[in-house]
Amino acid sequence: MPILDCYPKFYQDWLFTALELTAGEETKADVLEPLFAMNRAWRDGGTLPADYFAELATLRAYSLYYMTINMPKLWFLLSRAGIPPAGTLVDLGSGPGTLVWAWLFYLAKYAPERLQNMPPVIGIERTAEAVALAERLAESLRNYAPFESIDVSFRCADWQQAGGQYDLVLGGNVLMECADSATDALRDFGPTHALLIEPGNRPGFLRMLGARDALVATGHGIQFPCPAHAVCPLAADNWCNFTVNRAIVPFVQRMSNQAGRLNHRHHFSGLVTGPAAPETAASWRVLSDVRKVHRSGVRYLCNGRVAPEVVVSRRKKSSANEFFLRAETGALLRIQPGPDAVRGKLQAATRVEPLDA
Ligand SMILES: C[S@@+](CC[C@H](N)C(=O)[O-])C[C@H]1O[C@@H](n2cnc3c(N)ncnc32)[C@H](O)[C@@H]1O
Repeated sequence: MPILDCYPKFYQDWLFTALELTAGEETKADVLEPLFAMNRAWRDGGTLPADYFAELATLRAYSLYYMTINMPKLWFLLSRAGIPPAGTLVDLGSGPGTLVWAWLFYLAKYAPERLQNMPPVIGIERTAEAVALAERLAESLRNYAPFESIDVSFRCADWQQAGGQYDLVLGGNVLMECADSATDALRDFGPTHALLIEPGNRPGFLRMLGARDALVATGHGIQFPCPAHAVCPLAADNWCNFTVNRAIVPFVQRMSNQAGRLNHRHHFSGLVTGPAAPETAASWRVLSDVRKVHRSGVRYLCNGRVAPEVVVSRRKKSSANEFFLRAETGALLRIQPGPDAVRGKLQAATRVEPLDA
């Protein structure tokens, strides 16, 4: 998968200063132990107290590690679905402001003009200590170009009670901490677009499926990942997830080494919704990287109704094979003729073309 790197050059200085850390301290025991405790709770299905960010050591470990590695997940979605038009934005369960910063950093790289006269950006977060850190980060970010005039603020509240009218809703790893019915509360914000990420496990995926159906019921269309709104072919006994590379930032890599996390892949579920558009015929989402088997390349594709494993020869040169093998995971392809021909091997007459976001 491509390296999605929109971290500004000052990223480590900005973050470490707000956390009152100096370079190298990220691998000290008092920084890592709270991270390991959080990992154990999430990995083993244990529960954390609702206000786990009230513990400053936990908030610091999360901000260093998870905040940093969650950012590329939003960049992944934006790079596949496109940047929604300008408008007011709310981040639900914003923690230290993860997705707010990821959004601003992506704009700085791909649409810097959008940072001037930008509509307000608001984070809603229930833990006061996380709100205070996010406010500190916002204040400090205004010292760096091109972020001098950003209108960013954070509110301490339960997002499900907050409501409001926003053009864009962001949510990162928050639905998993709320009751199933929280997906319905997304509608109280009346967004035109929603971008959500959840952990890349089955419980995270099921929350995403609930959010998808709740937003489609309000007239939204799905911009990522499902090419059609139908019964998800993975819902019965599987789950739809993607990966980002968590080894981009050196201090995160050092922390991962200490944590024994030697695999650079970090899994997540993602969803982008927006104004409904007619479904594009013969669209297929690339769900997995190319698996090389002998002379073949194998990957899962999904058209929203079926998710077959598709095989092509890696030796045979044709534009169909090239596009299929070269497509980024998460890309959208147009493949004709339709699904029957796609099951198993691509046929000689099959056309494969990339579809722009
Ligand atoms: C796992 S953290 C994710 C933080 C950030 N969104 C990210 O992706 O890195 C979940 C955050 O959601 C907050 N949260 C959970 N339920 C909430 C609610 N009902 N209202 C406001 N914040 C909530 C938690 O306090 C925590 O900060």
